[in-house]
Amino acid sequence: MNARTTRTLAAALSLTAALAISGCSSDSGGSADSADGKPKMTVSGGYMPEPVNDKMAGAFMVIKNDSKTADKLTGVTSPLSDDLQIHETKDQKMQQVHSMDVPANGELALARGGNHVMFMGLKNTPKVGDKVTVELHFEKADPVKVELDVKERTYNAQNSNGH
Ligand code: CU
Repeated sequence: MNARTTRTLAAALSLTAALAISGCSSDSGGSADSADGKPKMTVSGGYMPEPVNDKMAGAFMVIKNDSKTADKLTGVTSPLSDDLQIHETKDQKMQQVHSMDVPANGELALARGGNHVMFMGLKNTPKVGDKVTVELHFEKADPVKVELDVKERTYNAQNSNGH
């Protein structure tokens, strides 16, 4: 009886192992995690409302993390300014933070009235229809270059149709 139990158990264990292995290999095809295990970010809807002056400008976008690894947005750079900050809005006041979470299989939304990228001291003043390039830096993922569309000052992505 004892020997039979042991054998059944061994068979069950090896079956489990086989399932785990096949589950693993089929998973790697459908996952967005790159081979080195870094999360990969996709950015959509990036825009900057036309700046009122050359002092500052905000930028908004949605950063999507399709991987199983949580990450953080840690900084933003752009040819338009040497001082880009990540701001959150609390009690209608904005304040600088050093990083923002991009959850696993989730997204970080930068939108009017909330989290945003802030350009301090613009090198020029972009107009509606211009493009502004920014590079997003993450704790784990590779940097992502994004082209922001410069929109009219009242533009709000949430109010536009089809998005
Ligand atoms: Cu701000």
